[in-house]
Amino acid sequence: MASSLFIFFLSLFHPLSVLSATVLEDLATLTPPPDFTTTITTNCLRNPLLRYCNSTSSSSSSPMNIAEIFRYTIVASHLCNESKNPNCVDDSFPKIRIHSRPKTAALYLSFDFFWKYCPLTVLEIELVNNSLKSEFPTNVLSCAQVRTLDLSHNQLSGSVPVQILSGLTNLTHLNLSYNRFSISDSEFLKRFNASSFLHSGLLPDAKRHKTKVLVLLIVFLIVVVLLCCCLGWLCLKRPDYLPRTCRRRSHKFTSAMLDAATDEFSDQRLVSKRDGVDIYRGTLRDGREAKIEVYTEKVSKAKRREFEEECEAVLKLRHKNLVRVLGWCNSRNLRALVTEWTNGENVETWLSSSSASSWRRRLRVVMGVVEGVSYLSEQWPEITFDLDTSSVLLSGDGPEPLISQFKIGDGNSSSTNIFTFGLFLLEMITSLKPDEVQEDSAMRYLEYIRVHCPGNVERVVDEKMKIEERTLEKVKEAITLGLMCTDGTPLKQQSFTQIYDMVVSLYESSSRHH
Ligand SMILES: *[C@@H]1O[C@H](CO)[C@@H](O)[C@H](O)[C@H]1NC(C)=O
Ligand SMILES: *[C@@H]1O[C@H](CO)[C@@H](O)[C@H](O)[C@H]1NC(C)=O
Ligand SMILES: *[C@@H]1O[C@H](CO)[C@@H](O)[C@H](O)[C@H]1NC(C)=O
Ligand SMILES: *[C@@H]1O[C@H](CO)[C@@H](O)[C@H](O)[C@H]1NC(C)=O
Ligand SMILES: *[C@@H]1O[C@H](CO)[C@@H](O)[C@H](O)[C@H]1NC(C)=O
Ligand SMILES: *[C@@H]1O[C@H](CO)[C@@H](O)[C@H](O)[C@H]1NC(C)=O
Repeated sequence: MASSLFIFFLSLFHPLSVLSATVLEDLATLTPPPDFTTTITTNCLRNPLLRYCNSTSSSSSSPMNIAEIFRYTIVASHLCNESKNPNCVDDSFPKIRIHSRPKTAALYLSFDFFWKYCPLTVLEIELVNNSLKSEFPTNVLSCAQVRTLDLSHNQLSGSVPVQILSGLTNLTHLNLSYNRFSISDSEFLKRFNASSFLHSGLLPDAKRHKTKVLVLLIVFLIVVVLLCCCLGWLCLKRPDYLPRTCRRRSHKFTSAMLDAATDEFSDQRLVSKRDGVDIYRGTLRDGREAKIEVYTEKVSKAKRREFEEECEAVLKLRHKNLVRVLGWCNSRNLRALVTEWTNGENVETWLSSSSASSWRRRLRVVMGVVEGVSYLSEQWPEITFDLDTSSVLLSGDGPEPLISQFKIGDGNSSSTNIFTFGLFLLEMITSLKPDEVQEDSAMRYLEYIRVHCPGNVERVVDEKMKIEERTLEKVKEAITLGLMCTDGTPLKQQSFTQIYDMVVSLYESSSRHH
């Protein structure tokens, strides 16, 4: 066998001993010598296994492709030299070895006719580190007798032709490491150990897998931390963005929330400005409108704690005649009380309009106020209220009055409360207010009414009501009640329960006359 191969190469390469430097030049210029056909015919007779001899088989009618076989001998001779085989003229040719020469490797791989007739002597093929970017070079596998195939350090991709590879029975050393094949779990791969497929993409990469898991874990942790930060920020600044069930104290407003509700306390949102209190009309995140009373006075820590307690108390008020408190803000830079927004006008404005022309309707308002006030003085004696006609609001068609300003722990005794109510009642009848600018104005105001009562009552009663003779008696009764409340001597004062009964009976009698 060895001697016959020896003869093959000797005779084959002999006429080509005048090769030039590049394979491409030779392929372009050289032509088969006259005795070339005879040479290969002789070779095939000696060794029918030679791959190019197959094309002359008796069953095939096509003649041997002499030109192609000649080209093959040129490439074989060059490749032998490129692969640094010791003797390319008169010895066999055992290895194809191109390392780190991308252009050369790609060129030789492109000679399909060479690989088709791959010399039988080649036992080792190494095409390492050549940046090959194609799919697996299957033409190489025509060299079915190889024992070593090393394609490591390239960028080969796609799947590996495991079926053809499993047919290479003599293949004992395979290296596909450092490529980009797609993963495969073929039985064939088990013939080799894992060092044949390092970073080849073929096997699940344990290390990369671990790294991936680690990276995922870190990303997950970062996400969790970020989420916690966001949540923490929301809890501190904008709890109104949290679902209702997650909010610990839905009546706590932060300054950021009120900022957002009032367009950063813009002038357009400012409704009124009084000493120490700015009132804004705000829109909460859930769409509700709210009245936001901002207390501008700077106060001590102790006062702030007191304010907090007041708010806690006021929050629990539940009565149809008391404005509903939604919550408050008590931060270092902002103290505010948030109540529901009522569209209705206040009693003061109402009194000056034509809709206040009915005695009965006025009594209806007074009745609502007494109801609210009774509830407060019975259930929440520590809470006092402001019954100024400008702070009592009207809502609905009733109209139903809403007491909208409370204070806590100011030490208002029940006598002060009753005095306040007395003044309110008198205002409801006369449509006149004590002049707030003047000192001692309430006393003068009461004095003025007392002078005309009971003899000259028509002078003080609001003309808009057009009181008839029969009703006048009742109006007189009402004025007397108001004056009694403001009498100043606590003993004579009524309790709100009594007052309520009296107002109800006045209201009922007014219905009989209409
Ligand atoms: C000859 O070629 C045919 C197909 O063309 C193939 O089946 C056969 O195995 C080849 N024989 C040799 C000796 O290479
Ligand atoms: C053979 O290879 C050497 C370098 O390895 C080169 O200098 C020489 O030109 C080559 N010969 C042929 C005929 O290709
Ligand atoms: C691959 O070839 C490049 C140069 O083409 C060389 O710098 C690098 O060291 C080689 N890598 C290996 C693993 O042989
Ligand atoms: C494998 O090697 C043996 C011994 O060297 C040889 O007889 C056989 O033909 C080879 N197989 C192939 C497919 O080349
Ligand atoms: C893998 O096979 C090579 C030779 O084929 C050997 O040198 C190496 O020790 C083997 N590695 C393992 C982990 O078995
Ligand atoms: C395959 O090649 C890589 C890189 O050159 C090397 O680390 C590995 O040991 C080789 N494996 C075998 C089986 O030769």
